[in-house]
Amino acid sequence: MNNPIIEVNGLASGYVKGLNILQGVDLVLKDKEIVSIIGPNGAGKSTLLKAIVGLIPIFGGKIYFNGAELKEIKSYKLAQMGIGYVPQVQNVFPSLTIEENLEMGNWGAKERHKDSFNEIYDMFNILFDKKKERAGNLSGGQRQLLALGRALISKPNVILLDEPSAGLSPKAIDEVFEYINLINQNGVSILLVEQNAKRALKFCDRGYVLDQGRNAYTGSGEDLLNDDKVVELYLGKL
Ligand SMILES: Nc1ncnc2c1ncn2[C@@H]1O[C@H](COP(=O)(O)OP(=O)(O)OP(=O)(O)O)[C@@H](O)[C@H]1O
Ligand SMILES: [Mg+2]
Repeated sequence: MNNPIIEVNGLASGYVKGLNILQGVDLVLKDKEIVSIIGPNGAGKSTLLKAIVGLIPIFGGKIYFNGAELKEIKSYKLAQMGIGYVPQVQNVFPSLTIEENLEMGNWGAKERHKDSFNEIYDMFNILFDKKKERAGNLSGGQRQLLALGRALISKPNVILLDEPSAGLSPKAIDEVFEYINLINQNGVSILLVEQNAKRALKFCDRGYVLDQGRNAYTGSGEDLLNDDKVVELYLGKL
């Protein structure tokens, strides 16, 4: 039970060889968990997700997915492998319709799940109502729901979310968190990068604080929220 889905050991990664942004990061995401990654701007949170999904090179350490080492993973194979990823920026195609955006999410999936579209539309009614509209016309909150829907359409076991609540109204933030919870209850493990650190720690099973490309603190969400040092250094000002 609760096997590790993703395991990151001593990961060194970055954008230019010889310039490691991540300097030996460790992380575990177990089956059905919600794990948050928090930390200041520039800590390397997005870089960590990009390294896991194979968008940037690995210079040292290892990443395992379901116990098998991920080597030179090609991003287009992610859906086949059961990994969904919602990047921090440009996570929908504004000039395509909602329906076309969802189809892009299904690209390369092992089986072209016909029922996936109905499941997504059942979950996110607003996407059904607007399926022929361009994604560029959606509100910020609706775009994030579309980005979630696109990541879910290939029926992943795990999704990596990079700041899904950034820039949204309080009401839209609540909605996004409710959906993430629902997605998790449907059996999907969640790796969540969040600016809204307190909320993320209240919401998650376990959390990691990253700082300057390194692990700073790790623990249950509750332990981190009650850690005076974590509060002083990372929660007060975020
Ligand atoms: N495409 C890139 N090319 C070169 N360096 C980059 C690139 N993207 C990010 N960096 C650098 O990597 C470091 C970590 O950035 P990253 O985006 O991972 O931080 P973050 O923790 O996600 O921050 P934020 O909270 O602002 O999203 C920063 O120093 C940043 O300048
Ligand atoms: Mg980021």
